Amino acid sequence: MTENIQIHLTKTPTGALTLEHFEQKTAPIPAVNDGQVLIRTVLISIDAAMRAWMRGPTYRPQVMPGEVMPAYVLAEVVESKYDGLAKGDLVLGEGLWSTFSVVEGRRMRKAPPYRPLSHLMSVIGIAGLTAYWGMIDIGKPSEGETVVVSAAAGSVGSIVGQIAKIKGCRAVGIAGGPDKCRWLTEELGYDAAVDYKAGNVAEQLKAACPNGIDIYFDNVGGAILEACLFQMRNRGRIVCCGALSQYDTDAPESPKGLPGLVVVKRLRMEGYVVLDYFNRTPEAAQELLGWMGQGKLRIAEDIVEGLENAPQALMGLFEGTNRGKRMVRAAPDPA
Ligand SMILES: NC(=O)c1ccc[n+]([C@@H]2O[C@H](COP(=O)([O-])OP(=O)(O)OC[C@H]3O[C@@H](n4cnc5c(N)ncnc54)[C@H](OP(=O)(O)O)[C@@H]3O)[C@@H](O)[C@H]2O)c1
Repeated sequence: MTENIQIHLTKTPTGALTLEHFEQKTAPIPAVNDGQVLIRTVLISIDAAMRAWMRGPTYRPQVMPGEVMPAYVLAEVVESKYDGLAKGDLVLGEGLWSTFSVVEGRRMRKAPPYRPLSHLMSVIGIAGLTAYWGMIDIGKPSEGETVVVSAAAGSVGSIVGQIAKIKGCRAVGIAGGPDKCRWLTEELGYDAAVDYKAGNVAEQLKAACPNGIDIYFDNVGGAILEACLFQMRNRGRIVCCGALSQYDTDAPESPKGLPGLVVVKRLRMEGYVVLDYFNRTPEAAQELLGWMGQGKLRIAEDIVEGLENAPQALMGLFEGTNRGKRMVRAAPDPA
């Protein structure tokens, strides 16, 4: 395979993403300079935050029109002019929506010798680590507490509820549609599910959490955050993981009740970025894999075949077409 397909962002989106925001081109395979490696992309993590990257600077600079879409990737080194990496090594780090790309060798890390490779994107990738640190270090669940998580059937959320159960909590997931809600309770072990697309989220939450919410793991922000805020118990914790309901719109909404409810209910709202915990990855990975080995943690992966389908894969996150960790396969796993 020598064709180098790349997918560029054509313009800064204002409303919802459409296929018009992307353009596929064929480019020459770039030359490698000292300190760099040429990588062939194998798996691309598809993350809701990529939509936020298009809007302005976040924890990374804004993606500008004309640029090839950046992404967290698992890739194989094809050529190396960096001492720490050799041809054939598997690496993780920021790459591109591109068959081949040249990256600074020092910015990539060798993938641990783990199979299947897709687990490096899911259970011990961004999804699992984000769920783990958000729950363990920020939510700090205690037995008997009620944990509510939004985007519960998604990449991070599908793991959060299961960690809540492992910690002896009542787990309530918020997801769109009866099928996903059934999946949460029947397959992932959630105690109850709230279908936010059926309306009346506050009433549904009240029924699912009769004693209120101790920990709300917020993946979506907006109206769902507001509904949860009003049902938090005193001294509850809100884990601010993301606000994906606000990424794909030009009219973001702020929840009511801030900061008043935080004050009167003595709540703690705390944000975090999983990269902050990078040095503690082995600790989290060991525990997550241990739970999986004991059958306590089920990992859902949603793999879209073909780099050319990356735009639809990303747009689908905002339409709810994924279950579990979405990624795009750009090439087969290396032997
Ligand atoms: N802090 C960090 O370090 C960190 C790291 C990774 C991810 N994140 C954040 O964590 C959150 C979850 O990310 P993820 O990768 O797990 O995403 P994801 O669950 O794969 O995202 C897609 C799911 O979100 C739901 N959704 C889409 N639009 C929604 C809306 N308007 N309201 C409610 N739900 C909606 C959809 O499910 P339904 O069918 O249920 O609607 C969809 O399947 C995001 O906000 C992301 O930015 C943070």
